[in-house]
Amino acid sequence: MQIKIFKDYNKLSFATAEIIINQVKEKPDSVICFASGDTPKLTCHYIVEKATKHRVDFSKVTFVGLDEWVGIPPSDSGSCHFFFRKNLIEPLHLTEAQVHLFKALSNDLKVECIKMDESILSCGGIDIILVGIGLNGHIGFNEPGTSPELYSHVKDLDALTIQTGQKYFNHTMPLQKGITLGFKHFNEAKKAIIIANGLKKAEIIKKTVEEGISIEIPASIINQHRNGYILLDEEAASLISPDFKHKL
Ligand code: F6R
Repeated sequence: MQIKIFKDYNKLSFATAEIIINQVKEKPDSVICFASGDTPKLTCHYIVEKATKHRVDFSKVTFVGLDEWVGIPPSDSGSCHFFFRKNLIEPLHLTEAQVHLFKALSNDLKVECIKMDESILSCGGIDIILVGIGLNGHIGFNEPGTSPELYSHVKDLDALTIQTGQKYFNHTMPLQKGITLGFKHFNEAKKAIIIANGLKKAEIIKKTVEEGISIEIPASIINQHRNGYILLDEEAASLISPDFKHKL
């Protein structure tokens, strides 16, 4: 695992977008998995800008949505679906056949999980998985304590996730569960990237980098990834102690 630190959120997002663009240029049929949320928003903007400016062909890419709030309709502006469609799928003109998203309104979420796992398998696995990090260290909706042996699954959300998740919605939302890719997907992805910005993420980033691999800090699993990166702005990196700067 390698850590890279950028001056600010803008530079972090620009560089992260460049990684995705280069991936698609090198392998046009790449399978790319993204989280939604505040962190990757500007990265998405730069991906679309660069793809348009340099005519990068996304027509063979497969896009996988990392997760979804169970019971929240895709039309809700706080849903992950809404984020993916608005920020990537529509501006990059991806077709429905290119896109795999969890249907979190389904009566049978187990079937949704199986369908997602099969889709990922049938397109040859994930080339790049790009995730944010929750204040409790979650990636996707793999909350603290989640088994590292899982592929797609449904998870009860942590109190902190329920509380912070409200920021995406226009009104108070009774969030309870998430449907998410699992650590197995994360570990098996050919490249795994965690991005984080801002002082609010500094404490959990410090723990992720310094406290070894533990299911209590889900993002720490990146420490064992053979091609894993933590991309940070200076604020998010500000509490990493000098002893761990060798990972830079
Ligand atoms: C969202 C997701 C979450 C977020 C995390 C950070 O699809 O998977 O794990 O990545 O909660 O959210 P932000 O970026 O809003 O701080």
